Amino acid sequence: MADFFGPDVAYRYDRDHCNQTDEELEKSVEFLAELAGSGRALEFAIGTGRVALPLSDSGIKVSGIELSEAMVGELRRKPRGNEIPVAMGDMTQTSVEGRFSLVYLVFNTLSNLTSQDAQVACFRNAAAHLEDGGHFIVENAIPPFWGLANDTTKMAFDRSDSHWGIDEIDVVTQQGTSHHVWLEEAGPRLMALPFRFVWPSELDLMAALAGLELVERWQDWWRTPLTAQSKVHVSVWRKR
Ligand SMILES: C[S@@+](CC[C@H](N)C(=O)[O-])C[C@H]1O[C@@H](n2cnc3c(N)ncnc32)[C@H](O)[C@@H]1O
Repeated sequence: MADFFGPDVAYRYDRDHCNQTDEELEKSVEFLAELAGSGRALEFAIGTGRVALPLSDSGIKVSGIELSEAMVGELRRKPRGNEIPVAMGDMTQTSVEGRFSLVYLVFNTLSNLTSQDAQVACFRNAAAHLEDGGHFIVENAIPPFWGLANDTTKMAFDRSDSHWGIDEIDVVTQQGTSHHVWLEEAGPRLMALPFRFVWPSELDLMAALAGLELVERWQDWWRTPLTAQSKVHVSVWRKR
């Protein structure tokens, strides 16, 4: 997966690859800070520190785990980017010293783990880093069946002037590929990112295997109730 987030993607990630608004970012940081309380937070797949840096600015001690050197390179280039400790490695098995009141994994990155075993291992690794009563938060896409008509396996999720996105999904294997086209002056730039889509209920089972129980699930960081039309969920599990 580090190959998908190499230097070519990393340097433009914050600008072109993240379609979240400033309001969403601000609200997510507020939500995460509230759950972290007076404890420490650990971000799985910390990337360029898009979320970790403002969370750290809000007074929370934040650490990270990340696979891509290039993404962490971008974090290091930012003001105070050197102050966030990051362990390089796979979030399914990399350990960081100490215990945390909050572990979080946002922006659909759980689905970048393309097997059920890897997703289960990710929950177990999150639980292993939590103190008792600590929380694991995941923000992840809900399987995109709302966009599939008849027999098609392809669904457009973005048709803006600067970016087109089509998810290709196989409902039997739960494997998908997000095809991206950025419309740039120099010509179209392409990326195809594999993912494993997963229902929230399957995640609850993974959480239970790891000794975590669901305490909240919403459609966004504003705690909007989930509906049949929700495209994303924000779920919070607590270590028993
Ligand atoms: C969509 S970006 C999200 C980055 C950051 N969390 C954010 O919200 O901006 C996905 C990140 O996950 C990292 N990643 C993917 N699989 C990983 C894994 N198994 N272990 C650690 N990091 C991983 C990628 O290198 C990339 O930086």
